[in-house]
Amino acid sequence: MCGIVGAIAERNITPILVEGLKRLEYRGYDSAGVAVFTQEGMLDRCRRAGKVSELEQGLVEGPLLGRLGIAHTRWATHGAPCERNAHPHFSGQALAVVHNGIIENHEALREQLKGLGYAFTSDTDTEVIVHLLNHKLKELPDLADALKAAVAELHGAYGLAVISAAQPDRLLAARSGSPLVIGLGLGENFLASDQLALRQVTDRFIYLEEGDIAEIRRDSVKIWDQAGQAVQREQVQYHEGAEAADKGEYRHFMLKEIHEQPKVVQRTLEGRLGDDHVLVNAFGPRAAELFAKVRNVQIVACGTSYHAGMVARYWLEGLAGIPCQIEVASEFRYRKVVVQPDTLFVTISQSGETADTLAALRNAKELGYLASLAICNVGTSSLVRESDLTLLTLAGPEIGVASTKAFTTQLVSLMLLTLSLGQVRGTLAAGVEADLVEELRRLPTRLGEALAMDKTVEKVAELFAEKNHTLFLGRGAQYPVAMEGSLKLKEISYIHAEAYPAGELKHGPLALVDADMPVVTVAPNNELVEKLKSNLQEVRARGGELIVFADREAGIDNGEGTHVVAMPHIGDALAPILYTIPLQLLSYYVAVLKGTDVDQPRNLAKSVTVE
Ligand code: G6P
Repeated sequence: MCGIVGAIAERNITPILVEGLKRLEYRGYDSAGVAVFTQEGMLDRCRRAGKVSELEQGLVEGPLLGRLGIAHTRWATHGAPCERNAHPHFSGQALAVVHNGIIENHEALREQLKGLGYAFTSDTDTEVIVHLLNHKLKELPDLADALKAAVAELHGAYGLAVISAAQPDRLLAARSGSPLVIGLGLGENFLASDQLALRQVTDRFIYLEEGDIAEIRRDSVKIWDQAGQAVQREQVQYHEGAEAADKGEYRHFMLKEIHEQPKVVQRTLEGRLGDDHVLVNAFGPRAAELFAKVRNVQIVACGTSYHAGMVARYWLEGLAGIPCQIEVASEFRYRKVVVQPDTLFVTISQSGETADTLAALRNAKELGYLASLAICNVGTSSLVRESDLTLLTLAGPEIGVASTKAFTTQLVSLMLLTLSLGQVRGTLAAGVEADLVEELRRLPTRLGEALAMDKTVEKVAELFAEKNHTLFLGRGAQYPVAMEGSLKLKEISYIHAEAYPAGELKHGPLALVDADMPVVTVAPNNELVEKLKSNLQEVRARGGELIVFADREAGIDNGEGTHVVAMPHIGDALAPILYTIPLQLLSYYVAVLKGTDVDQPRNLAKSVTVE
């Protein structure tokens, strides 16, 4: 979704801004722009619809040089994705702003500002911010004072950056509902909506908190909190290597991230397993005390993270005997919820900034849950900072919009949660924890074996290149795996895909099955496999073509119209993690065959920070 980069330095900052935007491209956007305070002493900008490469071309035709600037990638919400609506927005030649989020009272403000004589040149909600700020500057000449007054009138969510031609020694920032981070350099400072954008210039960061306003100069940073008090925020040194910065030997980030899974799953497990048990304090020092009180679990998440939560429900109820409910965050947040006593509220999120998930957490705090736990990939995210307990998934930065390694590390983390709750509450059957700890240790090797099937799956993908619809079937905990497989396929290949619990096939979707609708299924060798085989017969009897990822022992064989890919053997509990791998590879290779933009599929965003 939208990205912000800002810089103040003694050198020309335009290349830094553009490089920062490129590093944010993965989030999804449809136009881009940059504004600088030029050597001629004025604000100037370049904006383009489309990719950052178009903006770069624009900057070749009309270079912008300056030591203070802001830049943006926009994902359209209010107003079409065209140059006129691209950020930065100006108020006359005096001020420029870039903004992530949505200003909900923009219509009222627009009318008010028009009445004051401000002319609007875009259809965006953002433009009201810059004119409102201009208006406030008439009474409060200091930029920080005027910004404080202006944001007090904004309703909605924003992360924003402002520069002024009259005060070119500073860059202003404000955060409410949309993340911002300051990058600290030597004699130069930076701003971004994600530290990844600044990793080429610094590894020292200050994360702004909700309600913060910052004044960033070349050699100083001042921050005021929501109440207007000057505050010091902690500096964080980022240690992880530049692992996400390039694709290495891989053609796409997605393929690289799929192949990273054995390594990152290993990392997610490190330091969290004892000899024959899970170390409960991996969830924080208060975890054992809180987990002992948990009688129910409520999980809330979006997209791929929601599918991880659906698998966890099978585990929590099936292995640990703990009742579990799961809901998508956008529904949960607007519903009247009846809270069972002693319920642990669990959010799952790769980014930790998904607007609906964050809002659900904030609502939950008012509703009397026992405690909140975030299963999240970004330690500095809002979700982590606002939760009582955290387990980091440690997948490393995920660049491909379609989530892969984040999902499998979420599943591993949720298995750790299941075992921890069962251990503390004494609800696990004898030997289950020790066996699963052993299996978790072997999981990276199993994942490596599944990845070795890469070329086989690439071949299978050819069956899909000309198809417009597909059906994914699964039973038990493999049903959410089928849902995740179908989500991957539609996200990146744009083929319509639906997932059904295999037992529901005859209640509707069977009507769609014919030779043009391949049916994909995953078949570990468990107690449901015989039932699944009957469902597969139902498909074959209607001429449907089957693609089955099956355990070698499952007794499902290749035949006419049935393409079986043999999977390494794995115990039933961890099977959802292993069977995810071939479905990720399948969607990847279908997308490559179709020539789509695999890492940045159309219309989608990596981190959905608006509703
Ligand atoms: C977007 C992304 C998905 C992701 C979902 C939830 O839709 O494209 O890949 O699963 O948001 O994001 P989160 O960061 O909360 O896991």
